[in-house]
Amino acid sequence: MDSILVKGNGALSGVIPIAGAKNACLTLMPATLLSEEPLTLTNAPRLADVRMMTTLLQSLGAEVTSMSQGQVLAMSSHDISNLTADYDIVRKMRASILVLGPLLARFGQAVVSLPGGCAIGARPVDLHLQALEALGARLDLRDGYVHASVPGGRLKGAVIDFPLVSVGATENALMAAVLAKGTTEIRNAAREPEIVDLAHCLQKMGAQIEGEGTSTLTIQGVDRLCGATHPVVTDRIELGTYMLAPAICGGEVELLGGRLDLVAAFAEKLDAAGIQVSETVRGLKVSRGGNRVKAVDVVTAPFPGFPTDLQAQMMALMCTAEGVSVLEERIFENRFMHAPELMRMGARIEVHGGTATVTGVPRLKGAPVMATDLRASISLILAGLAAEGETVVSRVYHLDRGYERVEEKLSAVGAKIERIRGE
Ligand code: UD1
Repeated sequence: MDSILVKGNGALSGVIPIAGAKNACLTLMPATLLSEEPLTLTNAPRLADVRMMTTLLQSLGAEVTSMSQGQVLAMSSHDISNLTADYDIVRKMRASILVLGPLLARFGQAVVSLPGGCAIGARPVDLHLQALEALGARLDLRDGYVHASVPGGRLKGAVIDFPLVSVGATENALMAAVLAKGTTEIRNAAREPEIVDLAHCLQKMGAQIEGEGTSTLTIQGVDRLCGATHPVVTDRIELGTYMLAPAICGGEVELLGGRLDLVAAFAEKLDAAGIQVSETVRGLKVSRGGNRVKAVDVVTAPFPGFPTDLQAQMMALMCTAEGVSVLEERIFENRFMHAPELMRMGARIEVHGGTATVTGVPRLKGAPVMATDLRASISLILAGLAAEGETVVSRVYHLDRGYERVEEKLSAVGAKIERIRGE
């Protein structure tokens, strides 16, 4: 298994190109199942999870061709031959559940394995299932699979009122509703940029959707959707992660393709911590002078709040801040697994339930650490850049699921980072 070696670093400078969003791409890809005409995605990120979704779609009979070194995905679901998403693929990636809505909407039936438990809390899919039932699906849970069918063959528009905001459940409901008969209103919908991106792609395919980016989505079902070509929105989590590199090491880095509206709540916190963020014609520029970063408090929330997917990385910054910072995790239980690893590097952190209190120390010390999930892995790399000596992050397969060419991107701005190939 590969590991990443990071050495304590001086100031960074240069540019980092930001890729298309993993989480947008993983929901745009299943949208191909809604139409028999081709759907082409551009600006796709080159990630293990995207390859996994490719395998899943191919197992259903879709054609997926990766072009331009993986940045273009040409898909066709003309000849879907299998309506079962197998456990072997689904267990490796939760986003697999996103094929359920589209399959049901177009074919009136589907069998999808339930995703397994996940390292960051229980993460059920009950809201996905309730939404599909509201649209008229019959669901039967047996042998670890959801066996779904639609009496009469076509879903019917309905009011879906989510008791809590869920990104994935909103996406599944939206993809199911675009082909349902009649009008669907999704209340308490997620407002994440990835949902807006999905809505825009579906609109290009002929879907009638209003209210994207607000908490109420109104969908007028259509009989069929056509093909489209769509660029995947910028990855706001990759963007925020690399904004933290100069924030932690000092220096100035320009993030190509970065947009302030995608990371507004996060940028506000950086500003409060004493980091300069400004817009450029090509993206965003982040710089930090000689002063020590100030401690700030963070509460994670659905968009437009502070993203849970940047909490671990922000904690890495707070480890060396001046003062005490309180980080509250409100989206997922058990999402502080990076804290004990950061403590191995000399960080002072106390975790009580969903709250972590970080008392900044002047300098972290390099240590061997273990990555436990995707965002935790990158937070340990960021911390390693700020630490004295060498840090070896092992178990980085998580990292490759969500960050393309991390060593390349960080070394281009002067970071001392390299991959040690495992057996
Ligand atoms: C998506 C992202 C993930 C991100 C998260 C929050 C993808 C593939 N994943 O995950 O990277 O961290 O949004 O921005 O896009 N919940 C239920 N029942 C459900 C669904 C969710 O109780 O059926 C709960 C979850 O346990 C969690 C909360 O709702 O507490 C939010 O989860 P959700 O927004 O659905 O996250 P995901 O779609 O899994």
